[in-house]
Amino acid sequence: MPEIQYHGIDYSKPMLDIARQRLKSHSARVNYVQADLVKDSWWAEISTPVNAIVSTWALHDLGSQENVALVYKTCAQVLPVGGILLNGDFIKPDNAIHEFESGRFEIAKHIEFLLNVGFKSAECLVVLEEEIKSPTSAQNYACFKAIK
Ligand SMILES: C[S@@+](CC[C@H](N)C(=O)[O-])C[C@H]1O[C@@H](n2cnc3c(N)ncnc32)[C@H](O)[C@@H]1O
Repeated sequence: MPEIQYHGIDYSKPMLDIARQRLKSHSARVNYVQADLVKDSWWAEISTPVNAIVSTWALHDLGSQENVALVYKTCAQVLPVGGILLNGDFIKPDNAIHEFESGRFEIAKHIEFLLNVGFKSAECLVVLEEEIKSPTSAQNYACFKAIK
């Protein structure tokens, strides 16, 4: 998609440096923002209109369900009507007895948060590597799609 501009956000400088290296051939179209998704005004660093927000493998690290809901709320505020949020992340499967970190929770709760913060629709597109009995931390991955 050569026409799109991309803003990459992470609070880790080493991770941003890896992205800079990997995306070197697209550097004219990529803007890097070093910011904490929960504490910083990352949206203020983005000048162009944003039509899509994509997050992978990150929000479960935010430490709580409240922080994930806060980031969902900011995304809903940043996106125009019709804008899309795609979030791929680890979840806690229903009926799991295993203890997960608190940023990792059930699909229904994600959908509830997304609808509560102002998305018109929210759905879980797919669950990958579902394992309830004895999951590793790399299993139980879901992809969410929300439209403003
Ligand atoms: C498993 S890595 C995934 C990186 C990248 N999104 C990917 O899919 O390859 C999780 C990333 O979330 C970032 N992260 C965790 N908590 C964050 C926060 N509060 N604000 C910004 N970035 C955060 C980490 O620095 C790390 O780069």
